[in-house]
Amino acid sequence: MKKMHKNSLMLGIALTFSAGSIAVETTERVNTQDATVLMFEEAISQRQSTFGLIEHDAKDMGKALKAKEVNWDRLELAAKKLHEASTRLDSLFPEGSLEGSKAKDKVWDDNVKFERLLNEMDDGFELLYQATLEKDKSLAQQGLKQAQSTCKACHRQYRSRW
Ligand code: HEC
Repeated sequence: MKKMHKNSLMLGIALTFSAGSIAVETTERVNTQDATVLMFEEAISQRQSTFGLIEHDAKDMGKALKAKEVNWDRLELAAKKLHEASTRLDSLFPEGSLEGSKAKDKVWDDNVKFERLLNEMDDGFELLYQATLEKDKSLAQQGLKQAQSTCKACHRQYRSRW
């Protein structure tokens, strides 16, 4: 009788403990889910604003390179910013960050071409930046053109229209 008591007490303690730890685990899981959703939302909003910046600044760059007088110091800064923005995109497509964005699931399922186009854009902006250091107008135009040739190619396959 005494032994039984002890056993059921032990069982009671064990059950209380496991119920407690299930509760803790569940809360942790929910917190992790919340954190992941937040992380995805943050990545989506950052990549959208980064693309917006790239679109705007690349257009400005095109105009500036057509002008008779080129202010190389200003262009160097602008090209650096473009290059940094396109490099940043590498880490802004974490797997699973699809909901609420215009990225298609192909970005993660079939991404060889996606990666290639992202690199090509980045190389183009890097070339542009190098060219501004060398104050080489035609090379700068070539870099910008390379970067801009990737936009439509990628959107056609990896960005949804709605
Ligand atoms: C490797 C693929 C890829 C390349 C290259 C690319 N884009 Fe995109 N772009 C995307 C995807 C995917 C989205 C959708 C992102 C989202 O909604 O999360 C997007 C979204 C955008 C948006 C909309 C942002 C918003 O606020 O919703 C703009 C503007 C844009 N891109 C401009 C450009 C320009 C300009 C270039 C070229 C200089 C370019 N993109 C190159 C894949 C690409």
